[in-house]
Amino acid sequence: MASLTIIGGNQLYGKLRVQGSKNAVLPMMAAALLLPGETRLFGCPHISDVEAMAELVRTCGAKAVWQESVLCIDASMVVAGKIPAECTEKTRACVLLLGALLARCGQVTMAKPGGCAIGERPVDLHLYALKQLGAKMEGGEMLCCEAGHLTGNEILLKFPSVGATQNAVLAAVAASGITRIHNAAMEPEVEWLCRFLNKAGARISGIGTMHLEIEGGAPLHAIDFDVPSDRIVTGTYLAAVLSAGGEVLLQHVCPKELRAVSEPLIAAGGILRETKEGFLVKKQKRLRAFDYLSTAPYPGFPTDMQSQFLALAALADGTTVLEEKIFEARFHIVEELKKMGADIFLEDGCAIVNGVGKLCGSDVTALDLRGAAALVVAALAAEGTTSIEGVKYIQRGYENIVRDLSQLGADIQIG
Ligand code: EPZ
Repeated sequence: MASLTIIGGNQLYGKLRVQGSKNAVLPMMAAALLLPGETRLFGCPHISDVEAMAELVRTCGAKAVWQESVLCIDASMVVAGKIPAECTEKTRACVLLLGALLARCGQVTMAKPGGCAIGERPVDLHLYALKQLGAKMEGGEMLCCEAGHLTGNEILLKFPSVGATQNAVLAAVAASGITRIHNAAMEPEVEWLCRFLNKAGARISGIGTMHLEIEGGAPLHAIDFDVPSDRIVTGTYLAAVLSAGGEVLLQHVCPKELRAVSEPLIAAGGILRETKEGFLVKKQKRLRAFDYLSTAPYPGFPTDMQSQFLALAALADGTTVLEEKIFEARFHIVEELKKMGADIFLEDGCAIVNGVGKLCGSDVTALDLRGAAALVVAALAAEGTTSIEGVKYIQRGYENIVRDLSQLGADIQIG
């Protein structure tokens, strides 16, 4: 398996334009199946999760072709695809095809999406929401869903699941009558999907709140849409600069989506300034520990930044308690950071991190996307060489982290 080799100690300087958002564009690709004609996604990130999703929409009879950084999806023709296990194992976002294909074709058969390195990833909330709209399901290994006719209804999510909210919206736009989703996820990626669908003719209100109302049945049409900046990639690069040191201007960013990340970074001593050009980040001195942070649904501290903050806490001055409340298995990276000299132990769903004066380069292994990113953050500040196995994980969500960090002065290679 390819690995990343990083020689730590170089500070980062310069400007960097942040890529388009993985978790915003994947639902838009599913939504494009609802839109007869050619939808064009501008600034779409070239990452393996997008490639996997493009393969899936082709399986459903649509065309998906790249024109430089524009992904064009022609959904004039869509058939109720049978999504096999090898597809559903590649990217979690495939589960969004349930809502999209029920809406467009009235039926879908999909290998039950499995768990991954960070947790079991059940889909019970997705299935509950679709059943509320009239879908009939047969269980087993293959999920067979059909809905001769989708009917608007009340959906009360017992947890504000991002994916379940997105699936419910995708199906509700084609349901007859009004659907109200209560305790809806408020992540920006849900908001962007709603804005995308409204531009295509849907009638969704309450966008950005936990109560969404969808007036289904509006005729939908293909659109052009600019993919928003990836807030987690932005957060990862903020962490990289505050780990390695230096001063960087991140462009094509949306600071308001990152308040729960920037506030603790500033409290720890990081210099972060929103300018008209973008997000300026500068490290002046060793960070103070974060004291206590707990992951939570938006606008709380994002679980997708938890691993990167572990890497920062490992070198911060003091003790940090980081509690993971979203995914039950998102601390794999702790053992790898300990190989680099981090002082971390786990207790009751928390990582307790006692900051040390230095980390040492080591051979480490990534097991998930954000864990891989965290190892890069740590390696940039470590003394010596770090080799990170599992580059395929990082390529799922980061368009070209080697290109990005090299242009800022990092000594990083893929090999
Ligand atoms: C999305 O996953 C993101 N993925 C994740 O990013 C992100 O961590 C997560 O939202 C939370 O923000 C994409 O957008 C493709 P959830 P999703 O449904 O929709 C439980 C990354 O690194 N749950 O909000 O799967 C679930 O087990 C990825 O980019 C149920 O119990 O997240 C988890 O504990 C990782 N039943 C919690 O809810 C369900 O039916 C949050 O899951 C669905 C979810």
